[in-house]
Amino acid sequence: MAAFLPEIGRPTALPSVHCGGPCFAALTAPRNRFARGLGGQLRLAATVPKFPVPVATPGRRSSLFRPRRSAPSTESRVTPPGDEEPGKKPTVGKLLRLLLPDAYLLGAAFVFLVLAATMQALMPHYLSQTLGAIIDGQSAGVLTYRTFRRPLLSLLLASMGGAIFASIRGAFFIVIGARASVRLRTRLMNSLTEQDIGFFDTTKTGEITSRLTQDCQKSADQVSYNVNIFARTVVGLLVTLCFMLYYSRTLTFISFVTVPVIVLLSKKYGELMQALSEKTQQKLADANAVAEEALSSMSTVRSFAGETSEKARFASTLDEYYHLERHRAKFYIAYLTSTMALPQLGNCVVFLIMGHLCMRGMPAPSLLAFVFYLNSLNDGFSSIADVYTNIVQALGSAARVFELIERKPSGSLRVTPLDEEHGAQKAEVVVARPAVAGHLALSGINFSYPARKGRPILRSLSLECPPGKVTALVGPSGGGKSTCIGLFKRLYEPDAGTVDQAES
Ligand SMILES: Nc1ncnc2c1ncn2[C@@H]1O[C@H](COP(=O)(O)OP(=O)(O)O)[C@@H](O)[C@H]1O
Ligand SMILES: [Mg+2]
Repeated sequence: MAAFLPEIGRPTALPSVHCGGPCFAALTAPRNRFARGLGGQLRLAATVPKFPVPVATPGRRSSLFRPRRSAPSTESRVTPPGDEEPGKKPTVGKLLRLLLPDAYLLGAAFVFLVLAATMQALMPHYLSQTLGAIIDGQSAGVLTYRTFRRPLLSLLLASMGGAIFASIRGAFFIVIGARASVRLRTRLMNSLTEQDIGFFDTTKTGEITSRLTQDCQKSADQVSYNVNIFARTVVGLLVTLCFMLYYSRTLTFISFVTVPVIVLLSKKYGELMQALSEKTQQKLADANAVAEEALSSMSTVRSFAGETSEKARFASTLDEYYHLERHRAKFYIAYLTSTMALPQLGNCVVFLIMGHLCMRGMPAPSLLAFVFYLNSLNDGFSSIADVYTNIVQALGSAARVFELIERKPSGSLRVTPLDEEHGAQKAEVVVARPAVAGHLALSGINFSYPARKGRPILRSLSLECPPGKVTALVGPSGGGKSTCIGLFKRLYEPDAGTVDQAES
């Protein structure tokens, strides 16, 4: 452990007792009911090694860290193991704070983002100018390359600039995402290595690693990806808004009212539709499960003459599926009609007003530009709705990760809160780790493993190991010898009683 922890960047003080080398234990039997219970069979001899002085942490030493001279021994806390303090539900703010240490990178990304958005918003403008020049030149009979060379060149520059700036912005966000991912994983790993052994007894390794891999990946990736999309969309919408205002205030106002309403409505419909589809799929899976259950135990079904009831069970699940599908079919009419018709309706309203404006002298190429802007408006609001859905999903993953990061280990191994700046835990143990001289004692210990709370392993156990003496802990397999050593090593905290590690 001593060698392992610094590897993840956090040298730490260890529990005061090291049990390396030959196993040691001492029994001064009279006080020990455990030993008496085993009929004095405990005889395994070993030596009490000289205890290493706990590794002090660099930097500021907490006053708690200094050995308490007045107290001859440190009593272990009698904290029930696994006193989980689940993390608060993560908010979007908490997720975003993951990116804060990279504020300078975010700033640089934002500069390129604004440049890219401006270039991209210029494209419809130059496109309409190019087309306008061609149409006007042709109708006036003076169309040459010179007529549309300038707007075309500007279009080319805007497209090239847009592509280059957008790619640099994207690259920044990839790096920001990777850094957030590393930071989150490091923080989680730091927290995991601090957890009490009871936590590892009761939590499946698969679950822990899935948080370390999938959940971390989802939260960190999603947050950087969506911040990218969100910022890009908002800036894009603002620049688009400026260009639209430049062309027509009335049209801009109407578009900014109709487009978001239509987009959000169709998104909502889409979600409802998806939820319905999932429900019907679930019903189908239920029906399959019923069939599988019956078919795989056909002899039992026959023995109890259960064929009719099994058939009825299968049919009733399928019936539920059919009703859901009928409901989905009705909903589909409303869904598709509205999602297909509403945007067209919105477009038609805008075109009607465009026609009206043209009658009052607005040049037709400007309308063309406006149509392109309408398109980007649609895409923009659609992206914002997606960002919302993605962030909600990322919050689910982040909740599981933050819960573990914020879990306080039970017992004596408590550390300071996370160092937000570097994503690592500060190397400072806040609980006393006095130098010990080798006197060990357990007194009045009641203990059961966190994984099997209902099964007491030690009851009212007291034993003492004086320093420098060869002592023995002997007993049948499963008698609790290793458990005693585990308590000395502070791998577990007793339910009652004290673990003493005297200084002298
Ligand atoms: N991590 C654990 N979780 C739950 N029960 C445990 C754990 N380790 C040991 N036990 C149980 O505690 C009892 C004492 O085990 P142990 O201290 O290993 O005995 P010994 O070292 O004397 O053979 C046994 O019944 C064992 O099954
Ligand atoms: Mg053992």
